[in-house]
Amino acid sequence: MSETKLEKARAYEEAAGSKVPADLRPRYHLSSRCGWMNDPNGFSFYGGKYHMFYQYYPYDNKWGPMHWAHAESSDLLHWEYLPVILAPEEDYDGFGCFSGSCETLPDGRHLAIYTGVAHSRTIPGKGGTQTQNIAIGDGLNYEKYAGNPVITPEMLPEGSSFTDFRDPKIWRCKDGSYRTVIAAMDGEGHGIIVLFSSEDGLTWKFENVLAHDTEEAMWECPDIFDLDGAGLFLTSQLNEYWQGSVLAKECKTMYFVGECGEEVSSFTFDETSGRPIDLGLDFYAPQTMVTPDGRRIMIAWMQNWVSLGNRLPGLPWYGQLTAPRELHVRDGNLIQNPARELLALRGEKTEHRDVEISGNAKLEGLDGRFSDIELTIREIPGKNLDRIRVNLLDDGKNCISVVFIPSQNKMVVERVFPEFGKTKITQRKGTVAMKDGKLDLRILLDRFSAEVFVNDGEAVFTTCMYTENGDGVSFKVDGSCCVDVVKYDMK
Ligand code: FRU
Repeated sequence: MSETKLEKARAYEEAAGSKVPADLRPRYHLSSRCGWMNDPNGFSFYGGKYHMFYQYYPYDNKWGPMHWAHAESSDLLHWEYLPVILAPEEDYDGFGCFSGSCETLPDGRHLAIYTGVAHSRTIPGKGGTQTQNIAIGDGLNYEKYAGNPVITPEMLPEGSSFTDFRDPKIWRCKDGSYRTVIAAMDGEGHGIIVLFSSEDGLTWKFENVLAHDTEEAMWECPDIFDLDGAGLFLTSQLNEYWQGSVLAKECKTMYFVGECGEEVSSFTFDETSGRPIDLGLDFYAPQTMVTPDGRRIMIAWMQNWVSLGNRLPGLPWYGQLTAPRELHVRDGNLIQNPARELLALRGEKTEHRDVEISGNAKLEGLDGRFSDIELTIREIPGKNLDRIRVNLLDDGKNCISVVFIPSQNKMVVERVFPEFGKTKITQRKGTVAMKDGKLDLRILLDRFSAEVFVNDGEAVFTTCMYTENGDGVSFKVDGSCCVDVVKYDMK
């Protein structure tokens, strides 16, 4: 019998992945085993381990027909690669096994629900029909369900798109039944989020439309859940439009705080109240899960469809996920902080207290590419602080800069990377303010990224930097200020 696509991918990744030296990978972020990675999928706790699957094309470091790669972890930080579980080989998923999620079945098996993009049943000129499909497994091997597809676009409100219907996020209700939210598009080209329900996880019924976009964007990768007494809706918005003969893309991730009905049977919110989840240049398609001790953890693709191309030539993999973040809702705002598991990676400590800095400044010991840094910036009474620039992973030519301008309550993240001219957005800004004359930053640095958490998680700026030699932290201050810095090397 000839080799299946899944067997071929498993053999390929085993050979290609094992050739990647550890020092070409981030230290505590999951990166693609080989080839290409985008969205995290099926993030769940199963059989005593965290499981992460992801959108994957093993054969090249650019997007191709999507597979589901697999890794597992005990601490959300050290991931062990397991064999790829899904390959695009059926009529209903021949173009790709797109994003989805996982839950546990009553008999203890692991259920994956994912979007299949068909080669056949296409609408001329519009790509493949998208349907929702099931694969069931034991945490290692998964078999596609004989009854696939289990949800088809014919089940949507009349006029809905057949080719934009994807990214099911599943959860299990207290009575053992299942629900899923899925991204779709109505007849007028507006994104909608639809709710389906199922008694057994296999047979699904359309319930209602939970959300309706007012712009003409596809609301990808929806996730809706109760948190701290509020309803939280996360989505990634992809807007594609023609500029002459060029297909332009805009990407943003948004959150909405509203109110969920019992176990998300409904969701009410103000459609114009969306705010960015992350203010950096590289963040998209986040997915959440609840840990055994009840924390809501989020991990996202540390990249997006606009910032592609920022890469190290010759790197045998492309794509990494963010560090795990613990989510809360405080005063109607989403709060994100590094998951507490990260504290266990802290090694050697370097500390500076109450140091006045102005102009170009470097403090001793703030070097290295793998660090967890707590930085407090304080105004000095009677002295001006016009602007402070914190340079990260600086190699003299390339760096990530975080610029804070107190008088404007503004923070800007910049990717200074002269050799990488292709990305249009190399700068993004957000509103950030001092509190009681100080600003608190927590900065996670890994080999190719910086995640900057502001004021105990009120805002986050996530940005990648694919260079070899940049290092540490340095400052450029217009005016002067006082800083406290505590830096831990990450093991
Ligand atoms: C989001 C996304 C999803 C889709 C997947 C395809 O980044 O576009 O909507 O399922 O990527 O790889």
